[in-house]
Amino acid sequence: MRKLLLVGSAMAVALSSFNAIADGKATYDASCAACHTAGVAGAPKVGDSGAWKERLGQGMDILVEHAIKGYQGKAGYMPPKGGFSNLSDDQVKEAVAYMLDSSK
Ligand code: HEC
Repeated sequence: MRKLLLVGSAMAVALSSFNAIADGKATYDASCAACHTAGVAGAPKVGDSGAWKERLGQGMDILVEHAIKGYQGKAGYMPPKGGFSNLSDDQVKEAVAYMLDSSK
């Protein structure tokens, strides 16, 4: 029992040391990739640096707010948290950071 507890806490330390980009990738793959990898319904594609540069012009805070609260833009509709209301605001923020990092 004691040994199990030790293993558990070692895993927790290992998990918490993953950086935000890695966490963001996991969230992105599970919740955002369906639209943002292929550009479904007008979603800006991850990897399209031109599309993201323009959007980043409004500031990271606005991008994150649009991803959390949802956003009707000229290209289409971004559902709040991509439709995954179980995600925390921080998880969405990490996913946006990952998307931007992968679209430089
Ligand atoms: C159902 C499809 C869909 C899913 C799933 C989705 N998005 Fe989007 N997203 C869109 C569309 C469409 C737009 C473009 C809206 C526009 O500008 O007209 C968009 C735009 C965005 C933008 C740019 C907002 C801006 O202000 O320019 C961000 C950031 C974003 N999505 C993040 C995410 C994140 C993070 C997830 C996963 C948690 C996600 N999206 C999941 C469809 C989706």
